Amino acid sequence: MKKLADIGLIGLAVMGENLVLNMESHGYTVAVYNRTVAKVDKFVDGRGAGKKFIGAHSIEELCATLERPRKVMMLVKAGDPVDHFIDLVLPHLEPGDIIIDGGNSHFPDTIRRTKYVENKGMLYIGTGVSGGEEGALKGPSIMPGGSPDAWPHVKEIFQSIAAKVESGEACCDWVGEGGAGHFVKMVHNGIEYGDMQIITEAYQLMKELLGMSNDDMHEVFKKWNTGFLDSYLIEITRDILGYKDENGEETVDFILDTAGQKGTGKWTGISALDLGIPLTLIGESVFARCLSAQKDLRVKASKVISGPQAEFKGDKQQFIDDLESALLGAKIISYAQGYNLMMEAASEHGWNLNYGGIALMWRGGCIIRSVFLGDIKKAFDNNPELPNLLLDPFFKEKVEQAQAGWRRVCATAVENGIPVPAMTSALTYFDGFRSERLPANLLQAQRDYFGAHTYERVDKPRGEFFHTNWTGRGGDTASSTYNA
Ligand code: 6PG
Repeated sequence: MKKLADIGLIGLAVMGENLVLNMESHGYTVAVYNRTVAKVDKFVDGRGAGKKFIGAHSIEELCATLERPRKVMMLVKAGDPVDHFIDLVLPHLEPGDIIIDGGNSHFPDTIRRTKYVENKGMLYIGTGVSGGEEGALKGPSIMPGGSPDAWPHVKEIFQSIAAKVESGEACCDWVGEGGAGHFVKMVHNGIEYGDMQIITEAYQLMKELLGMSNDDMHEVFKKWNTGFLDSYLIEITRDILGYKDENGEETVDFILDTAGQKGTGKWTGISALDLGIPLTLIGESVFARCLSAQKDLRVKASKVISGPQAEFKGDKQQFIDDLESALLGAKIISYAQGYNLMMEAASEHGWNLNYGGIALMWRGGCIIRSVFLGDIKKAFDNNPELPNLLLDPFFKEKVEQAQAGWRRVCATAVENGIPVPAMTSALTYFDGFRSERLPANLLQAQRDYFGAHTYERVDKPRGEFFHTNWTGRGGDTASSTYNA
């Protein structure tokens, strides 16, 4: 075993343990440290026994065992612990050494930390790592950003441990400066929320409207997973619906219907509001989790407020096929919106994002991995300046093919009182996006009426603002014109 380690890791929780085992299996010697030091020995003598690990019992020892430039990766809880460990590590580093945060940090924190560490002469990487426990061990998707000078030093390690697509390319590449890597990971998670939500909406319709059993739904997801929807989340849904415990009980039916969330979907929504991007499907998905969490209130409401009695009239198989179309249409909208957000953030933060490259990073290893992402990569390879995924000929055609079934699903759900917030908000976005004219003329008139906020006219050049004295009582003074 080498005397010095190629990389050091702080944080031997589930992700940390699996990621270092992955690194070691690719030939790297890894130094490991954990705040509860007993875990270090437990790991080195346990899962790490006989392997190229160096157990460190202090940060100082960890840094002393690393080849230069030192690479110290943290997989600790997002938030204060990251700042805490940066300050503990920095005194043991030399200029050019690299600190890497592999947790789900909020990108503004990563922007701040990159500057902070660079000001001390060291380099910083904030990287998204997706794929859960199994991905960390067998090949995650890795989305690094931060100090560009750090990338050549970690590229080989990161790309060798990352998931690979069929052509052999790694699901890992440099994303961009500062918080770009964590921003892209945040959008990944937002999209993950959206994909999960539309799947649950299809599930509820099949269960409550069509009266299907879990076994029947298992078969439907199995079939969907062989088509355009082929993805990890469809695959695990198939398995969950087919899962029975030791007593033959279907576990999914025993799980309380209140969704948890750690915050990355919410951050995606906040970022969209900050940047003025209509990220409706992900936004609805976050709110759907919030509504699910108001269980007690819902139980009370269900006893006093009535709605339509769900009753399906029609061809069941046709409706299942329509559901597939609804999932497809809504999914295309969600990715179009997510990419739109990344484009706006790139221009706001000066990031040069490679959109095809991002699709490739998400194609394998991560939670939203799917065949579909290969088509998104193709769309951006064909036109790197594509302003919206819906304008790509392939996706335009797909969404047009999907819309009839998708509309039938939304209409049926609404008529039957079954909530489908993500599917319907996506459809509404689609209809808004393809509208040359929206009713915002009336809205502008209202703003001008009550607040003299002014409006532009269709018969005058853009940028000229007008005010009407609507009642004859107000003055002619307009308020200043600015947009938040
Ligand atoms: C991943 C996941 C992961 C995320 C979990 C939980 O890419 O491996 O996105 O990073 O933390 O999915 O997220 P929620 O608790 O917010 O659902």
